[in-house]
Amino acid sequence: MGRAYDDARRRSLAEPDAFWGEAASLIDWVTPPTRVLDDARAPLYRWFPDGELNTCANALDRHVGAGRGDRLALIHDSAVTGQVTTFTYAQLLDEVSRFAGALRSLGVQKGDRVVIYMPLVPEAAIAMLACARLGAVHSVVFGGFAPAELAARIDDAAPKVVVSASCGVEGTRVVEYKPLLDESLRLAEHEPDACVILQRPQATASMGERDVDWSDAMASAEPAAPVTVRATDPLYILYTSGTTGKPKGIVRDNGGHAVALAWSLPNVYGVTADDVWWAASDVGWVVGHSYIVYAPLITGCTTVMYEGKPIGTPDAGAFWRVVEQHRVNGMFTAPTAIRAIKKEDPAGRFIRERDLSSLRTLFQAGERLDPDTFAWASDHLGIPVVDNWWQTETGWPMASSLRGLDPMPLKPGSPSVRVPGFDVRVVDEHGHEVPAGTEGNIVVRLPLPPGTLPTLWGDDDRYVEAYLSAFPGYYSTGDGGYLDDDGYLYVMGRTDDVINVAGHRLSTGSMEAVVATHPAVAECAVIGVHDEIKGQVPRAFVVLKAGIDADPAALQEEIVEMVRDRIGPVAALRQVAIVPALPKTRSGKILRRTMRGIADGREEPIPSTIEDASVLDVLRPLLRGESS
Ligand code: COA
Ligand code: AMP
Repeated sequence: MGRAYDDARRRSLAEPDAFWGEAASLIDWVTPPTRVLDDARAPLYRWFPDGELNTCANALDRHVGAGRGDRLALIHDSAVTGQVTTFTYAQLLDEVSRFAGALRSLGVQKGDRVVIYMPLVPEAAIAMLACARLGAVHSVVFGGFAPAELAARIDDAAPKVVVSASCGVEGTRVVEYKPLLDESLRLAEHEPDACVILQRPQATASMGERDVDWSDAMASAEPAAPVTVRATDPLYILYTSGTTGKPKGIVRDNGGHAVALAWSLPNVYGVTADDVWWAASDVGWVVGHSYIVYAPLITGCTTVMYEGKPIGTPDAGAFWRVVEQHRVNGMFTAPTAIRAIKKEDPAGRFIRERDLSSLRTLFQAGERLDPDTFAWASDHLGIPVVDNWWQTETGWPMASSLRGLDPMPLKPGSPSVRVPGFDVRVVDEHGHEVPAGTEGNIVVRLPLPPGTLPTLWGDDDRYVEAYLSAFPGYYSTGDGGYLDDDGYLYVMGRTDDVINVAGHRLSTGSMEAVVATHPAVAECAVIGVHDEIKGQVPRAFVVLKAGIDADPAALQEEIVEMVRDRIGPVAALRQVAIVPALPKTRSGKILRRTMRGIADGREEPIPSTIEDASVLDVLRPLLRGESS
């Protein structure tokens, strides 16, 4: 490893105040912090406790103020509508200030929450930044979730206003959002004062009494100036799947977040203010928050927002057209997207058709980058393909090759090394560190660096219980894996019931809760099984109540529909296996961990407490992803 990396890692861990105090100069403060790490309430840590700033001013105003107002800030490229829309920093500032004014006229003030339920349109980013400008707290909900999931988030966040759109476009299908929003508001107990609706040409939403048209709101809006907030004030809440049905509201603060992202884009991703950067994700996910919106704008570069899929819109060359057309220098996507492209274009014909000379690096994250996909992308693109590992909770990479600071050799199957600031270790079930090469639980020694979650929304106890209790002194990532002799990390999969479907994080526990409500179901387990394109897909294993004599195909369809209706199409539960029994302990506990182990290809020893080991013989092929 190079000197620059070693120095940065050592200093970030041994002298966090000095390291992050210096990094704090990357952003503009209203009141510069005099203190860096606040450990008064450990294990709840805060960064830059007496600093004050505005995140939106750091993303927009300061670049305009520095004479870079004509620089392109945002390129929205919509393959599904065939339109490209661009915004310079000056134009984006104007839109955001006016939408902030519109929100204020609807009563939104510092600290109020605003839920954003939108497709990937520029207005989604404008709404996020407008909230940041007012010191309001946004909570973006991914469009693929069903009304019940949106309702649960509305009830937890209690927003003053909801911002949504008439529709999204999924391939060639128009998905109307407004009826989903209306349904979720019927289900929710909390009532927002108003809903701002962006009318898109593909569908017109019918408007109710509390609904306000985006254009009308903008037409009469007074631009709002940035509101000063404390570094520790919340910028956003992003809900993610937990081990129980109730989603966890990951909180992000303002100061630590801005500093961490301003440090990470140049140092981890090697991207500077002169670059064009494209994160092919969605604002509903953390990648969209950190690397479509905040990091590129705080850095002052151009960010590309792409509405469409990697395949089918129009073809498997869609991504490479975007790179060529906008002269993209750095790109970020999930391995699943590359696998989908590879399946349609194994010989890389679409890649060769394009001038991709601008592209320096392809970053991959959201799920494990399997060595085949790594090799295919590396060979056909001829550039470094860089795996990086992180999660909604951390907000930015915990492991990566440091492309700006000190690029290190890549190893297939590994997201490279531990990023400065993250003291990642691997421990056994008792919390003892294991030697290199031995698999265990991946944890991070506290404190976590700036930009990571300080807590869960309104629930410090759940934060401590869910993340800090299993291994005292450490943050528990929920992932398992090992470090090799060179300090490279290998992430092998989750140790809990979270699965990763096409780069989307989902809880099998919440799917089980839905499946179990079917009147014919006696008991069930939902397990992530291997899928060639999506990495994992959920498969439900269902035992029927005695005496049920239903048509299995009809029953399977009903269960699939129930999950789609309650969780959303994104859950992608399409496989329901009706089985005679589930593996259980003698005391009746379903051996989900054993089932997961078989599904992940890690044949763990079968617990001696198993009631009837022969049950597994029936399930084994189904768990290994063979068709049901
Ligand atoms: N709004 C409404 N519905 C949505 C949606 C949204 N924003 N996003 C997904 N859906 C729907 C899809 O239309 C699909 O519905 P269907 O079951 O009726 O076909 C379902 O949810 C599943 O979607 P998806 O998981 O995207 O599967 P897909 O088969 O349509 O596409 C891939 C597969 C691999 C091409 C696609 O998942 C992909 O591009 N993944 C990359 C993911 C990513 O970037 N993740 C971010 C982490 S970095
Ligand atoms: P999310 O919070 O949606 O970003 O999902 C985070 C989870 O995705 C992690 O806890 C991992 O299980 C998985 N993940 C993300 N990136 C990687 C990666 N590069 N390698 C392996 N797993 C990953």
